[in-house]
This record gives sequence, structure tokens and C-alpha cells, in this order.
Amino acid sequence: MDTHFWKIEMGQANTEIYQQAAEFLKKGETVAFPTETVYGLGADATSEQAVQKIYQAKGRPADNPLIVHIAKKEQMHDFVTEIPQQAAQLIDAFWPGPLTIILPVRSGALARNVTAGLQTVGVRMPSHPVSLALLEAAYLPIAAPSANRSGRPSPTSAAHVAEDLTGQIAGIVDGGETGVGLESTVIDCTTEVPTILRPGGVSIEQIEQVIGQVHSAKRVLDSAEAPKAPGMKYTHYAPNAPVFIVEGSVEFWHETIRKQQEAGEKVGLLVSEGLADKLMDMDNLEIWLTTSREKSLDQVAQQLYKGLRAFDHTDCSVILAESYERTEIGEAIMNRLEKAAGSKYLREATEGR
Ligand code: TXA
Ligand code: MG
Repeated sequence: MDTHFWKIEMGQANTEIYQQAAEFLKKGETVAFPTETVYGLGADATSEQAVQKIYQAKGRPADNPLIVHIAKKEQMHDFVTEIPQQAAQLIDAFWPGPLTIILPVRSGALARNVTAGLQTVGVRMPSHPVSLALLEAAYLPIAAPSANRSGRPSPTSAAHVAEDLTGQIAGIVDGGETGVGLESTVIDCTTEVPTILRPGGVSIEQIEQVIGQVHSAKRVLDSAEAPKAPGMKYTHYAPNAPVFIVEGSVEFWHETIRKQQEAGEKVGLLVSEGLADKLMDMDNLEIWLTTSREKSLDQVAQQLYKGLRAFDHTDCSVILAESYERTEIGEAIMNRLEKAAGSKYLREATEGR
């Protein structure tokens, strides 16, 4: 399949591009486009055949449902039966933006494979001007998972999408690098107390300021009856080389790197600039900086997937990643890092522990 490529020129209307890309979507083709979180791979959510093309291109397991994207809030009423009070408050506070809300789906309104057989649907209104313009031009509910091959880090640039999906999808709208860099927060609002199924662009703190205390998937994971995002059980965000999260002093980092090198590994580091400076004297290191000197969590989030992907273009055989505070976007950063690492930690032994 030929993959059509459109480049959005900033400061111009790009009307023709949006019309062409929207035509592709209306014809039942797949088109990748930027959102404020990551690039999504869109298709008409009312067409089973169109949605099937998403699963096929991504190599995505059929039991993992897709998020439906809209340009206008009123589009939601076509395929959702009820908007509980707390969902309405969240919509007012965070849409358009990086928050996906799970709501009861109207039976027959969407293609069955969008919801993977569930009675619920994830809905999101993105804030990125390019996604909004495209969604408005198509004026269809658009199913869109992240535009990566299943299991790979999500794409934060059109080049990442091209790397994974060229030849597998009908088009890519290049709108530059995405902003947040990690996916939307997914919150289930079909239960009495809403549950965060995936931490993301809107923090738990921000959500609790609007609707009070919520459950989070962490606590939920332990209880058998509780729902969770089907997608969270699969390997995700993983570069080719294994990732370890390292926690400890600079001396511990030195020691850990040395041990890996003695075992014949080529070590890559996914660390902040401040830490990199302290490790720079070691030989044979491949370093990928994720952040500014100040270790700003927003910048880490923005650069994380790009960093993980970058190692695939090196000869690194092991990646050591710094860990971050679990506040605000840090919760989502650590969630993705733990998935990339398969929860493998290397921790410094401390006295009294
Ligand atoms: O930021 C984002 O959300 C991006 C952009 C493109 O919008 N999309 C995205 O989609 O990350 P995806 O498919 O990669 O992740 C969707 C997650 C999966 O973990 C899936 O299992 C969960 O949301 N999900 C979707 N529908 C659900 C439902 N009805 N109930 C529970 N979880 C659901
Ligand atoms: Mg994804």
C-alpha cells in the first residue's frame, strides 16, 4: 500500500490537506495524525472494516478496545447512552485535552471491534489544532489508538509513525512533534467512584481537584472484580534492548554500569542532563538525554518515547533508565518506564532496609 504523506505548514490554513485526509477517513481508510499527546492512527469508528485496518496495521490484539475521538462534544450523544455527573464535570474541566473518559456505549452505534465487545467506550476530544481540524473535516467519530506497531513506544513525531507503519496505512498527516509526549489519562466513569485506568496527560491530582477522590488502577489491580484497561496487560513501549530502572547514588550508577560492561554489555543511559554529567567520564557509553538540567517532569514526558526509540538505532544491548518522582506527570512517566522495563529495577541496597 502507498502511504500518502501530508505536511501541515504552520501559520497556513492547510484546508486542502484536511479535506483530502478526511476523504480518506470517510472512504474507510486509515490516517495517522498528531494529537497533543502522541500520534494516533485514525479510522471511521462506525465501520467495522475500517477499524479492522487499524488492528491489522498495528498488529494489535483484538481484545484491546480503541478510543473514539471527536471534534465537538455533541457528537458523543450519538454513541454514548449516559454522561454521569462526574464525567460531565471532567469534560467541562479538561476537554479539549489529554483525558479519555470511559462511558456506557449505545448498542449498535459504533463498529463492534472498536469496543472489543465491551459495553463501554473510551471517548476523547483532543486539543491539538491539527487533530481538531481533521476530526471536524471528517465529522465522524474516529477510532484512534497510538500510531505505533503494537508493543513499540508510541510515536511523538511523524517520522516515528513512518518508521513503524509506512506501507501499512493510507496516510500520515505530519504536524510536527507532539506536546505532552505521553498518552491521555484514561478514567472509567461508569462506576460510582471513577477509576483511573491509565495515568497520563491530566494528573490524578488535577482530577481529584475537580471531582474528589478517585480510585487508581494500582489499587484496583489487586482486586479481582475491578475493571481495568485491557491494553494495560500487554508489553508496551519496549525498545529492542532490555531496560532496567536504576535507583541509587552516583556511585551505585558507576558500579552498575561497570558490572554491565564487564558482562560484555554495551550500555545506554536514559537519564537527565545533570546525572549524565556525572557519568560522562565512563567509557563506551551511549547516552540519551531526556531532560533539561532541572529534571523537569514535563520535559521528561515529552522526550521519553523519542529516547526509548533512539536506542534502536544504536548498538546498545542494555538500557539503564533514571527514575522520577511520582507526582503530577511523573506518575505517567513511571507507569510507561515500568512497562518498557517489564518492571525490572536495579536498586542500591541501603542500610536498615
Ligand atoms: O493519548 C491517547 O490516548 C492516544 C491518542 C492517539 O489519542 N491514544 C491511545 O490509544 O493511547 P491506545 O489505543 O494506544 O490506548 C488506549 C487505552 C488502552 O489501554 C485500552 O485498553 C484502553 O485505553 N481502553 C479503550 N477503551 C476502553 C474501554 N472501553 N474500557 C477500558 N479501557 C479502554
Ligand atoms: Mg498505545
